[in-house]
Amino acid sequence: MVEIRSRAYCEARQRAGVLEDGTVRLLREAGLAARLDRTGLEHGGIYLQFAGERHHLDFRALTGGRTVTVYAQTEVVKDLIAQRLADGGAVHFDVTDTEVDRLKTDRPVLCYTSADGTRHEIECDAIAGCDGFHGICRPAIPRHLMTVTEREYPFAWLGILADVPPSTDELIYAHHANGFALHSLRSPTVSRLYLQVDPDESLGNWPDEEIWDELARRFEMPGWTLKTGPVLDKSITPMRSFVSGPMRYGRLFLAGDAAHIVPPTGAKGLNLAMADVAVLAPALDSLLHGDPGPADTYSDTCLQRVWRATHFSWWMTTMLHRTPGADAMEAALQLSQLRYVARSRAAATSLAENYTGYPELPGLARPG
Ligand code: PHB
Repeated sequence: MVEIRSRAYCEARQRAGVLEDGTVRLLREAGLAARLDRTGLEHGGIYLQFAGERHHLDFRALTGGRTVTVYAQTEVVKDLIAQRLADGGAVHFDVTDTEVDRLKTDRPVLCYTSADGTRHEIECDAIAGCDGFHGICRPAIPRHLMTVTEREYPFAWLGILADVPPSTDELIYAHHANGFALHSLRSPTVSRLYLQVDPDESLGNWPDEEIWDELARRFEMPGWTLKTGPVLDKSITPMRSFVSGPMRYGRLFLAGDAAHIVPPTGAKGLNLAMADVAVLAPALDSLLHGDPGPADTYSDTCLQRVWRATHFSWWMTTMLHRTPGADAMEAALQLSQLRYVARSRAAATSLAENYTGYPELPGLARPG
């Protein structure tokens, strides 16, 4: 495995933090869940807030017992790196000048310069392109063979990590005239919160005090108070939907953000990457043992889940954010949709089924 960033960078970068139950089971079956099982926080629902009302959606009741687990992506990354190193795997950080070539042969090559300046050329059986949206693998596929479907949203998320116990037992997704807000958490003593801001907003315009004031405004509810505390980390994330297919070119297989991006509102990014890899690992095993079937269907299999999650993330995003320039019709439709989800069991079940992961990952034992 080669990585252009440092190990410290990979392990410190703040990302999302909600794992579907299938993702948790996948990590368990791979023997990677010791810390997750000790410190992950199982959640059986979310709150949906709008028009001064806060409604609980009970995922367990709606889906026959399914849940999600709050465990930060950075922690998953630490666990994966530690296990790979413990297994004696080659993991090279801080590499430069990465290239992939001969992708249509059965000996594709990966070239890179390691931190000590040595140039390497590795002959591979196959290459998994897990190098993110800005990586080199997707652009290595001839453009005319790819279909790219993309949307940028006219807002961004300002996220903070705060040294304060969460003010809520479940995540709160809040629709407000000033814009969307999300109250998430990382542990019994650390909270993670987000505010919808303009896409070109700069962090300089948001001193900690103003962030807390605006969060308190958007989450306001009689009899409920937002606890505040020191801000440990602050960042702004743009929002986009992006799908490129096929996810395979010869012996190069794209996985995760290299092939698709969702806005964070549905908490799907990491879960989709895990689902890709759950399909890819056995497909590569079959390919190297003479059966190309699963590798040939890899892209189609993954893209079905990707499109479901892309729709769900788009739907959550458009239902919950204030769209600049939206007319009265759009605003009324948005509120009507929120009320429907809060009051109709059928509508709430659809949200719960998608949020906990649809379709469920195949081939995994159900708990209990
Ligand atoms: C997070 O905890 O970072 C988080 C949770 C739910 C989301 C997005 C991000 O929908």
